[in-house]
Amino acid sequence: MIKDTAAGYGLISKAFHWGMALLIGWQILKFGDRIAEGEHWVGQVLVPWHVSIGVLLLALIVLRTFWTISQRRNRPPQNGTTGIFATAGHGLLYVLLILQPITGILVMLGGGYGLDAFGVQLIAEGDKIGWAASLGSLHSPLAWGLSALVVGHITMALVHQFVVRDGTLKRMA
Ligand code: HEM
Ligand code: HEM
Repeated sequence: MIKDTAAGYGLISKAFHWGMALLIGWQILKFGDRIAEGEHWVGQVLVPWHVSIGVLLLALIVLRTFWTISQRRNRPPQNGTTGIFATAGHGLLYVLLILQPITGILVMLGGGYGLDAFGVQLIAEGDKIGWAASLGSLHSPLAWGLSALVVGHITMALVHQFVVRDGTLKRMA
């Protein structure tokens, strides 16, 4: 099933969910730069892709948002009070997934570094931009917030699977 139904998420929503979950997990490894000033395999092998993958994630979250809006009437229902929390939590994930790459790009522009993705120059190096650097300084606190929310999200998915046993994980798996 390509589209979502009341019984479960369709192929496109699942591809967005699991593909982006993998890439976001990779992005969060950027915290690894704090260990030994990045002088270890995480810092050297995975983190150099941070900007390119971040730009890719910005494109994906825009497409995913349009897809989610188009599917909002077909999706599995969120019932009761926990459903309200689930909807709010998912909404907050979308907000952070949009702000995270935007503030990342502002770090690059604010520092005058320009922007390259997968070897293609999108914006040339230039002068430092004070306001962009100030807004870009939110990138790290937002990353902590996103990481906490992702941990909460995964915990709830596991609680549904092993404690409540209501088949929530099955509709996304
Ligand atoms: C969903 C997308 C993204 C996530 C989850 C993410 C996550 C992170 C994390 C966890 C850190 C480490 C912060 C710390 O150690 O305090 C970081 C730093 C950084 N990110 Fe991202 N990032 C994303 C997108 C981007 C993009 C698109 C760019 C640039 C175009 C970018 C540029 C940077 C830079 C330059 C740093 C180091 C400077 C700093 O800590 O402010 N990020 N990011
Ligand atoms: C970076 C990691 C992740 C992010 C950003 C994320 C984000 C989201 C979002 C936004 C939704 C709402 C549906 C949608 O619009 O696609 C969702 C649903 C869901 N996620 Fe995740 N997810 C992540 C990882 C995981 C993991 C690792 C699991 C399983 C252990 C999981 C289990 C689920 C389940 C079961 C649903 C369906 C919930 C429902 O129908 O009420 N997610 N996720």
